[in-house]
Amino acid sequence: MSILKIARMGHPILRERANEIADPQQAQIQTLVQDMLDTMIDANGLGLAAPQVHVSKRLVIFSISEEQAEYYDCEMMPLSVLINPVLEPLSDTTNTDWEGCLSVPGLRGRVPRYDHIGYRGMSLEGKAFEREARGWHARVVQHECDHLDGILYPQRIENLSDLIFESEIKHHIGSPDDNEITQ
Ligand code: NI
Repeated sequence: MSILKIARMGHPILRERANEIADPQQAQIQTLVQDMLDTMIDANGLGLAAPQVHVSKRLVIFSISEEQAEYYDCEMMPLSVLINPVLEPLSDTTNTDWEGCLSVPGLRGRVPRYDHIGYRGMSLEGKAFEREARGWHARVVQHECDHLDGILYPQRIENLSDLIFESEIKHHIGSPDDNEITQ
């Protein structure tokens, strides 16, 4: 078990386009996923992208617990490993909600995301798969995949007054509850 250091906003690796993974079954990738999982759990995150642990590869992990699925009205998702993801909006409509990011500690922002997306990629076993996602599930995938293209959520915020300290979120209408976690 290794807990990796998380890159913070300003580190150049978070601005790069990450590289495709040729073979997900390489021992190096298997170890990376295990370490990312340990790191995500330790940091109380719900998602993590490889560039956030200083590895420029197209790999993200995320999970949506039963409680989060109920709260955000989306399907629950046990730990998902998504390699070389390709994402496609399936509607023009967006919704705006609060996000946090382990690479942007202490802040929250209201970010517009597509309501409905399709995504495909490879599993850790190297199998291709395809899914549709709505709501919070769609939001998490869009946030994590942005990391692979060098984009952090503050770059998606339309109005900078929607970027705040998380300790101040209680003053906002429509604020998330205390269980809100970072990606
Ligand atoms: Ni993030």
